[in-house]
Amino acid sequence: MVGNWKMHPTHLETIQMVQKLSYRLEPGDYERVDVVVAPPFTALRSAQTVIEADHLSIRLGAQNVSWEDEGAYTGEISPVMLAKLAVTYVIVGHSERRELFGESDADANRKVAAVLRHSMTPILCVGETAEEREADFSEEKVSGQVLVGLQGLSAGAVESSVIAYEPIWAIGTGRTASADDAGGMATFIRGLVGDQHGGAAEGVRILYGGSVNPGNIAGLMAKRDIDGALVGGASLDPDEFASIIRYFA
Ligand code: PGA
Repeated sequence: MVGNWKMHPTHLETIQMVQKLSYRLEPGDYERVDVVVAPPFTALRSAQTVIEADHLSIRLGAQNVSWEDEGAYTGEISPVMLAKLAVTYVIVGHSERRELFGESDADANRKVAAVLRHSMTPILCVGETAEEREADFSEEKVSGQVLVGLQGLSAGAVESSVIAYEPIWAIGTGRTASADDAGGMATFIRGLVGDQHGGAAEGVRILYGGSVNPGNIAGLMAKRDIDGALVGGASLDPDEFASIIRYFA
């Protein structure tokens, strides 16, 4: 379960949010669920310090990364820097990066490779717009994003990766995909990965994202091919995020 905190908390707010979340979780929760928070870059160091000092089992995620390790790339953050901060997951190709900042499938592919090169786990985001859904183009859009995004990776690398299906019309809108639609797309994605990368399809974890909340998470998680969720808005509230994480309780 990944909390994508987007461009919301400052580093001070992040410290409080991590602590509040940890108070609401039991040791057994971490055995059932991998819990990840992805605060903004400026808060990663603070979050890492709290996690280490309090011996929390919360994992740290970043929301973006450069595909280069170092160099004259003003404003970019390298995978080396993230790995040094004990970041273990990196969100790649989120629809907001694609739509607002022009990131392409090829960019996502280079970023996925950079994340894996530094032994972190990429969370490759894919998903169709409302217009594409209307035009019955969802599977084509998603398959292009998955195929290019994972291009050139070994089966082992694919197996250890995460793919998040996030229909763009469901992000931040309160309109969740139905569990059947989300589960159907997750099955489609696993099939696609199987066609391209064989047995790696069994290991790859597939998340759903888009207006996930405590009320709809259990129905989504009941779907065979949905392994978790990428949560935006609801993850900013520690109570709500904790009840999503404890969906089985
Ligand atoms: P949301 O965002 O849960 O607020 O819809 C999900 C995401 O963008 O990852």
